[in-house]
Amino acid sequence: MPTVDDDAPAWRPDELSNPHAAADKASRVQRMFAAIAPSYDLNNRLHSMWRDQAWRRAAVEAAGVRPGDVVADVACGTGDLTIAFARAGAAKVIGLDFTPPMLSIARRKSPGRATPFAAGDAMQLPLPDASCNVVSIAFGLRNVADPRQAIAEFFRVLRPGGRVIVLEFSRPANPLLRRLNDFYCGRVMPVTATLIAGDRSGAYHYLPRSVDTFLDRQATLDVLRERGFIDVTPTTLTFGVAVIYRGIKP
Ligand SMILES: C[S@@+](CC[C@H](N)C(=O)[O-])C[C@H]1O[C@@H](n2cnc3c(N)ncnc32)[C@H](O)[C@@H]1O
Repeated sequence: MPTVDDDAPAWRPDELSNPHAAADKASRVQRMFAAIAPSYDLNNRLHSMWRDQAWRRAAVEAAGVRPGDVVADVACGTGDLTIAFARAGAAKVIGLDFTPPMLSIARRKSPGRATPFAAGDAMQLPLPDASCNVVSIAFGLRNVADPRQAIAEFFRVLRPGGRVIVLEFSRPANPLLRRLNDFYCGRVMPVTATLIAGDRSGAYHYLPRSVDTFLDRQATLDVLRERGFIDVTPTTLTFGVAVIYRGIKP
């Protein structure tokens, strides 16, 4: 895993034309989340207009958790989705992330510290083959250096019949809503979220660029299928601002 090294901005404006192309994307992403961790949840709630937790609940529902299920929530960050899975009655849930300050907040939020959170890289999961019934990743796939490798890892650790759940930002298909959303995400949110976080890492300027230049809906479905998942379906949330992708390991 990369290491958090210094206080330098993770992204300068001239480096954001396609942040996914940066050779050192992983260490930049890690530095950026370390910088914004303390205000991450507040910014999520405010800038999603309190929709983000409903999106996570919809992701849990899409997973169809059964008693006895083992769930790995990858790129768990401050743990909101991990905790939602624990509340849904999974037998065992683990949250994995590679940014220690995000994991520290997750641990503090877990009731009775009952949900385990551990260091783990999405591209090399510290889990045995065929050990999970559900693997989830919320707003994380876009931040991983090689999303195809991460999806291959999800496939490896899932049992046959296991479900992968990817919750990710998208852009509305309706042209008017798309323009409104682009204005909000590209012009308003970077300013207000940066102010609230007191951020100098460039995280909230990276965010809209990372969505615009990431795999679109069809490409995400294609990668899931290429990596072996079947019955791959998208569920659109809030006019297409976010999407849940669900697939099954045959
Ligand atoms: C936008 S946050 C999402 C956090 C959480 N899933 C949520 O729903 O709020 C993205 C997270 O992905 C993590 N991340 C990015 N690349 C990763 C990788 N290769 N392995 C593990 N975590 C990674 C970051 O550390 C960060 O906590």
